[in-house]
Amino acid sequence: ERLAVGIDVGGTKIAGGVVDEDGRILARARRATPTTDPTAVLDAITEIVEEFRDQYVIRAVGVGAAGYVDVTGSTVVFSPHLAWRNEPLRDAVVRRTALPVLVDNDANAAGWAEWRFGAAQNHPDVVMVNLGTGIGGAMVLDGRLYRGHSGMAGEFGHQRVVEDGLPCPCGNRGCWEQYASGRVLERRAAAAVAEGSEIGRALIELAGTPEQVDGSTVGRLAMAGDAEAVAWVGDVGRWLGIGLADLAAALDPGIFVIGGGVSANGETLLRPARHAFSDHLTGRGYRSEARIVAAHLGNDAGLVGAADLARLRARRRRLAS
Ligand code: BGC
Ligand code: NA
Ligand code: ZN
Repeated sequence: ERLAVGIDVGGTKIAGGVVDEDGRILARARRATPTTDPTAVLDAITEIVEEFRDQYVIRAVGVGAAGYVDVTGSTVVFSPHLAWRNEPLRDAVVRRTALPVLVDNDANAAGWAEWRFGAAQNHPDVVMVNLGTGIGGAMVLDGRLYRGHSGMAGEFGHQRVVEDGLPCPCGNRGCWEQYASGRVLERRAAAAVAEGSEIGRALIELAGTPEQVDGSTVGRLAMAGDAEAVAWVGDVGRWLGIGLADLAAALDPGIFVIGGGVSANGETLLRPARHAFSDHLTGRGYRSEARIVAAHLGNDAGLVGAADLARLRARRRRLAS
């Protein structure tokens, strides 16, 4: 069987895996993302690949990167969350590993995985929204990953939803990801901890120390039934639904797959999202409404999709030569 390595480089962690043709993960690796140092990211990627090669025959490497990747799958042109600026990542990994390498946007990779092996199997028109550090997006239309003219389609997180709104690390203001990503819960949690409010104290108790409080602590508190935490997750869900209605106006998909860390909140997030979606959808009442479902592959989607895309491209190249 042909194996590929998939590596998901996110805003906080790098996750790697050996992936087979059916999307199964045979081995895993994990590192913290060196957010300010592109060379250290490259070192981590190379290390992970070499570690896997001690045990497996690897045919290709796919890297899902949290940033804008050019249409040939070689350069990370820009990243709001990481230090990459016109980074020729593919050639650098090729030089170090001598394997075929594909670089794609992290959410594109995740969307591809959900379409191939997860929540959207057999759906011809899928939009994936990945709620992590930012909001990542992917479109699989007519069974093909849509990359746009320059490779940067699907940057839904940077659609402006609020005029003169919160500043975004992309340089603009009022971007969707400032209202519906994991950062929102993180921001509110940090403020509550600093204020010493009731929910702030509950978050610290749950996490252990103030430093350990993050967005996922809010999710756990919501799961435990805390009304305020449920309301915070609901606010994110409402913003999610409003944004999905805009995406439906443009793309009219049959299904939205919601992934990324925040999607672990399940129905606490998705129920308010579906309500807001139905309330804002243009032509509502006269059209079928897209389903809004949770991703199946969880945090593995990015690495599984990156590996699969790389394996398929390497195979196409082999057949063509
Ligand atoms: C970036 C995307 C990325 C997403 C999720 C966004 O801010 O612009 O490229 O996919 O965050 O990590
Ligand atoms: Na994308
Ligand atoms: Zn932005």
